[in-house]
Amino acid sequence: MSETTSRKFNLLPMLGHTKGKRSAVTCALKCDNACAGDVCNTSSNSYFRDIASATMSRRAALGFGAAGALAVVLGSAVTSAEPAVAGGPGLAPAAKEGFAKSKLVFQPIAPVDAAVDAVTVPKGFTWQPVIRWGDPIFKGAPDFDLNNQTAKAQEQQFGYNNDYTDILEIPGSKGRRAVLFANHEYTNEGIMFPKGMPDAQKRAVGQAAHGLSVVELERKNSAQPWSYVQGAPLNRRFLNNTVYELTGPVAGSALVQTGEDPKGRFIKGTLGNCAGGTTPWGTILSGEENFNGYFRAPGKSAYDKRYGLSDKQTARNWELDDPRFDTRNAGFENEANRFGYIVEVDPFDPTSTPKKHSSLGRFKHEGANVIIAENGKVVAYSGDDERFDYLYKFVSKGTYKEGDRKHNMTLLSEGNLYVARFTGNSPVAEIDGKGTVPADGSFDGTGEWLPLVVDGESAIDGMTVEEVLVYTRVAADKAGVVVNNVRQGPTKMDRAEDVEPSLHTGKVYVACTNNSDRGKAGKAGADEANPRNQNRDGHIVEITETGDQTSTKFTWNLLMVCGDPAQGDVTYFSGYPVDKVSPISCPDNLAFDSVGNLWISTDGAPSGIGKADGLFKVTLDGAERGKVEQFLAVPNEGETCGPIIHDDERTVFVAVQHPGEDGSFEDQHSFFPDYVAEGATPARGQARAPRPSVIQVFHGG
Ligand code: FEO
Ligand code: CA
Ligand code: CA
Repeated sequence: MSETTSRKFNLLPMLGHTKGKRSAVTCALKCDNACAGDVCNTSSNSYFRDIASATMSRRAALGFGAAGALAVVLGSAVTSAEPAVAGGPGLAPAAKEGFAKSKLVFQPIAPVDAAVDAVTVPKGFTWQPVIRWGDPIFKGAPDFDLNNQTAKAQEQQFGYNNDYTDILEIPGSKGRRAVLFANHEYTNEGIMFPKGMPDAQKRAVGQAAHGLSVVELERKNSAQPWSYVQGAPLNRRFLNNTVYELTGPVAGSALVQTGEDPKGRFIKGTLGNCAGGTTPWGTILSGEENFNGYFRAPGKSAYDKRYGLSDKQTARNWELDDPRFDTRNAGFENEANRFGYIVEVDPFDPTSTPKKHSSLGRFKHEGANVIIAENGKVVAYSGDDERFDYLYKFVSKGTYKEGDRKHNMTLLSEGNLYVARFTGNSPVAEIDGKGTVPADGSFDGTGEWLPLVVDGESAIDGMTVEEVLVYTRVAADKAGVVVNNVRQGPTKMDRAEDVEPSLHTGKVYVACTNNSDRGKAGKAGADEANPRNQNRDGHIVEITETGDQTSTKFTWNLLMVCGDPAQGDVTYFSGYPVDKVSPISCPDNLAFDSVGNLWISTDGAPSGIGKADGLFKVTLDGAERGKVEQFLAVPNEGETCGPIIHDDERTVFVAVQHPGEDGSFEDQHSFFPDYVAEGATPARGQARAPRPSVIQVFHGG
């Protein structure tokens, strides 16, 4: 399809849009209206202005040899289920030369009107889908049929609302075969199904459209785009009845036992999967985020409230079909304690049992990204995506062994868990809540990782290890050190989404997407790490661990404070001229290219200008540090997710999530990606309706 496929719609009235600029439908279906309800974190945690002081010594460089080998190079036979993994502790290969110029040269696109129902890509580039909602995955699976979807068909087809995505080359395939992973965060029944379809059928298809997918891809050569392969050996759907093994200290705990699983070790399904990460040993991590929206609960306990579980009918009513989705039911009281974890999947073994890792804690995990420290320990970073919630870090007990995949797949089962506290170094009075840069020229300071679990022991008074890992938010509320009789607890962040270490520098990037409530009456006000009240546009924190990656101390600064300078937003781009950047808002997913540039996909556009979500490249090094260049924009009401940057092949992949979100089946707002003309008969497998899809954008075509 061409770069200018363009179908205009009248702009929707903004009435249906929320203060965070997300569609009201997305709020209801994706995160159970998390931003409209009460703030879950009512803890009295001080924020760092309380002890702002500290002259901070900014480290110019880390003592690397640290970092992992995310450039996974798999090196055995195509048919092998046990790919050998090259690399290991150490920086990405390209890092040895420092930041270099990327082959992915492009002219940034201008911001695109939100109502444009098209994928907009730079001049000279073309896009096409890799796989769409409903595409048949298995041999004999039925073609997508928009008007007659059944649960049985959907179970054999690609799911809905793809978010995290990665593509790993299949060993020995000479670049011609790869395996794609995608998760399916949530469904929008209002645009997926005709009105006349029975509700029970909608619920059943909706359930089957959740979960995860693994699909093989092929291409003739590395200059050609990818196609997915129906019926390929590694293809797999993970459904709500797929069994996950719970690992770590919570496995077997009374807190996760149910009538169906009295031993508390095996959990059916994964819910609300959002972002994720890929490990150096070639497995995929996926974050269970807004799981609370799938459960009806008593909603009275402090634990239920801290996790947003309430006694109201759920958006999808699955509790009508399966009693486990109502934790008021006898035998299912603990069912919601079995969600909110980081999931690990081996995409190279279709018979493997996926894992849920309790050692990384239970909260609304956006995702998790790992790096291997100098001493071989695996360090995983994860954000809790809720207003005023926290940032976490896990350090494995065991160490990475190159080539020993079986061993490496146990590393996330046991280790230490920490929560972050940020301290600013500028006077409190200089943090004006508008985003004005303080007099020392940067939002920066020091920080520490406050212990939650260390060496198998709970660091939280009155809570066992199991309790800390099941009620991690509650434990984090109590964490901290006491200074002058005041507890210095973790820092309430502006919705930490992706948290990703750079394998070029070891620095860690935290996408704080927005927080319209900061500074409102009774809520935490601006601090140097979250410097804007009513933060609509978000910001990116850059963390430098002090010493090696397992350190409990760090320094930090803000890479950028997002917004549109041309619209008068107070912004900051590490000193890069604000009139020379692409406007950017609501950073969500992060990725790196092979030469160390940061790429950011967004879930919201700068205030009031009605622009589409997009994908942006950010230069991190040299004179152009802070330069933001927009690469693409997604169709009407869609969100850009799961970016993968294969800059060496001048190819970029994104997962286009919830296109046409605010429409109805009879009045669709997007026709991405099939773009069947009005009145035309869709070709086999096509539909005149929005279909969340993974797309590839490549040079030429
Ligand atoms: Fe599913 Fe945090 O976005
Ligand atoms: Ca400062
Ligand atoms: Ca996200």
